[in-house]
Amino acid sequence: MARDLSTRLGSLSLRNPLVLASGFIGSDESLLRRAWEAGFGAVTTKSLTPKPRKGYDPPIVVDLGYGYLNAVGLANPGIEYLPRLLSLLPQEAVVILSIAGATPQDFRHCAEVGVENNVDAIELNLSCPHVKGLGMDIVEDVGYSLDIIEEVVSLGRPVYVKLGLTDTYMELVARSLDRGVEGFTVMNTVKGLAIDIESGWPILTNVYGGLSGPAIHPIALRMVHEIYGEYRVPIIGTGGVTGWREAVAMLYAGASAVGIGSYLFNRRVESIGDILKGIQQHMERKGFKDIASMVGYSHHR
Ligand SMILES: Cc1cc2nc3c(=O)[nH]c(=O)nc-3n(C[C@H](O)[C@H](O)[C@H](O)COP(=O)(O)O)c2cc1C
Repeated sequence: MARDLSTRLGSLSLRNPLVLASGFIGSDESLLRRAWEAGFGAVTTKSLTPKPRKGYDPPIVVDLGYGYLNAVGLANPGIEYLPRLLSLLPQEAVVILSIAGATPQDFRHCAEVGVENNVDAIELNLSCPHVKGLGMDIVEDVGYSLDIIEEVVSLGRPVYVKLGLTDTYMELVARSLDRGVEGFTVMNTVKGLAIDIESGWPILTNVYGGLSGPAIHPIALRMVHEIYGEYRVPIIGTGGVTGWREAVAMLYAGASAVGIGSYLFNRRVESIGDILKGIQQHMERKGFKDIASMVGYSHHR
């Protein structure tokens, strides 16, 4: 019997647990529609900032074989582009608006545009590791992150905080739940470096970049497990999911939904059908009747 893949992510109902991660084909309206049509349960936009950003000069992505290092520099068309970005999506599409900025006012402004355009949830990118003043600098300052969170939560939409690998993420989780955040997206890329040993220079124009893909999967899994174990909150488990096995592991660790990013670097977006099929077959083999019974399963062992 084919298993039902629908799931709940906090207050959102998803047709399946796969979520397009921010930064992948999420700044172009045709590609965003294609992602929805390919079968994602929800799509996250590229992080939008108050003004458009050009980003860094190439090279901006390095394929390391075991993951990717990128420093795109938050290139995006700006929050005013949102109505156009959403214009080709069907009414029923579940849209998570990712926003970034330097101040609580920046985030509030972007979130207000999101509310006007009826997005389903707002994801706060507090953790981009390669743009000074717009990313890790924020998430490492728990007090400042809370100021931003308060501004956005007050607008009444479900808010997800995108976490990075910091020493203080459990503190930020606890304190942002007190402020009314619905859940967390775990995790952003991890700051790293690649050097060209012929020239001796760093490969990325920005020098440092964010590591994604298989290399970070065990870290993401650990963070999801730790947060779910302590708080039982909605989590979009993101990081190195490159097949159905990692997706199942994310659910078992406690994620209610699974973010897909680097998997798309060298695949057509339609290939997420393989992940969905793999999850379904695993459910049949193991006798899970729904996704909800898989969420946090590793904590019951
Ligand atoms: C090229 C690239 C661009 C990204 N852009 C964003 C972004 O705009 N906002 C954001 O919150 N995360 C961004 N991310 C991080 C991803 O959403 C995701 O958290 C991270 O890549 C880990 O997932 P993965 O291993 O499946 O790629 C980006 C990642 C990459 C590789």
